[in-house]
Amino acid sequence: VEGPEGQQKVVLTSSSGASAEVFLHGAHVTSWKSNKGEELLFMSNKAIYAPPKAIRGGIPICFPQFGVLGPLGQHGFARNSMFEIVEGSGESVTLSFRPSAEQQKQFPHQFHLLITVQIGSDRLTQTLQVQNEGSEPMPFTTAFHTYFLVSDVDNAHADLGTSGLTYQDNTKGRAESKLSGSSVKFQQEFDAIFVGAPDTIKVVDEKAGRTISVRKEGLPDAVLWNPWADKANGMADMGHDQYRNFLCVEPAVAASGPIQLESGKSWSGTQILSLDS
Ligand code: BG6
Repeated sequence: VEGPEGQQKVVLTSSSGASAEVFLHGAHVTSWKSNKGEELLFMSNKAIYAPPKAIRGGIPICFPQFGVLGPLGQHGFARNSMFEIVEGSGESVTLSFRPSAEQQKQFPHQFHLLITVQIGSDRLTQTLQVQNEGSEPMPFTTAFHTYFLVSDVDNAHADLGTSGLTYQDNTKGRAESKLSGSSVKFQQEFDAIFVGAPDTIKVVDEKAGRTISVRKEGLPDAVLWNPWADKANGMADMGHDQYRNFLCVEPAVAASGPIQLESGKSWSGTQILSLDS
């Protein structure tokens, strides 16, 4: 199917009627709808759907670098690159990517990245699998940079399930800080790496009466982010005041990394997003 600006996307549909859309650009999920047809992911109304810009909203794949934790541009180049379809059914698709010669100049490693997206009646499952096809160990960090749609950030929070967790505050040079309770209420710019985060984090929209559980496997960290007004309104690809309509919970290998993947070896990490009934 053709999406905005002629970009190719895959539409997945479960027998229950839930659906998802995945762009070949970045293996980027831009929509996840429940079986009642409600959209669960945020998309910027100014998103640019053309490489080399990453799509704003949905689920960008940060690879082979999370954030600025390495020599590459922010969040690495996978989100700015075109993937190919290797297999698919109506409910799942696997997309493949290998770095170009140009990308290998910045990151001197050969690898094969596979992203699988599967839609279920109440869930979206996404797996990142990487194989080191080079002869040297390959360092990487990564994240599923998921933008959850909320009715208003004032009516929503992220529940980590444990009180008093510490985090690295990206707004303060990664200084260590501590949560007072077990949840994050977004009331100003918040940009935090929870190292060794709980394996389930809930995104709760109190007004909409909706809870989405974010479960992670093989991904030790979680990043929680909302840019708030000044930063968001300074982004060319974010609509005015749209920062109020999302919060990001990002299962990651961030400060726990980098992982050193040995030559010939594979690694995988998964996020499972499920809508609580
Ligand atoms: C988050 C980072 O994961 O992504 C933030 O912690 C960053 O520091 C944000 O601003 C968005 O990044 P980008 O490159 O998509 O604007």
